[in-house]
Amino acid sequence: PRSIWLSRHGESEYNLVGKIGGDSNISPRGEAYARALPGLVKKSAGDRKLTLWTSTYRRTSQTAHYLDYEKLEWKALDEIDSGICDGLTYQEIEEQFPEDFKARDEDKYNYRYRGGESYRDVVIRLEPIIMEIERSENIMIIAHQAVVRCIYAYFMNVPQDQSPWMEVPLHTLIKLTPKAYSTYEERFPANI
Ligand code: F6P
Repeated sequence: PRSIWLSRHGESEYNLVGKIGGDSNISPRGEAYARALPGLVKKSAGDRKLTLWTSTYRRTSQTAHYLDYEKLEWKALDEIDSGICDGLTYQEIEEQFPEDFKARDEDKYNYRYRGGESYRDVVIRLEPIIMEIERSENIMIIAHQAVVRCIYAYFMNVPQDQSPWMEVPLHTLIKLTPKAYSTYEERFPANI
């Protein structure tokens, strides 16, 4: 690949109230990010033709709305499945499932939500995506916090136990450029 552009979706209604999972719409701030994205991409990619991949959730395709590139939806880019915790806040999880909350904190990479996934599971389902990125040029991906962490960790060689804790801010476009022995990273915040 020449470069890979990564972004989380714009702020969602669920982000605003601290709920995880779901399939909510983007908020007015998220919409502002969607409108700012073409400018950020232009700044970092110039006139290069990108191919844009999103998940199957509303919030990623809404974030991609103003970008005029060929688009493809991948189920493999959907957010980590939080099973019985889907739609809860972290505080609600801690209250309703204290043992799960603790187990996840102790080994976030391997902890699998009941009826859902672990980071390890997400990494495995991302394998075809990674393979496709490796043989493509100029892919842009709009996905979710856990998924962006896993793809980023792969290219930046972040150890597994650290990857689930990495800071991946909203409203920031990340550009990764693989070189012979390392990957060059640039970040373009939208200031929204
Ligand atoms: O809060 C946004 C979100 O994408 C949730 O949907 C998801 O469960 C979570 O982030 C993943 O982050 P963490 O693994 O830190 O809980």
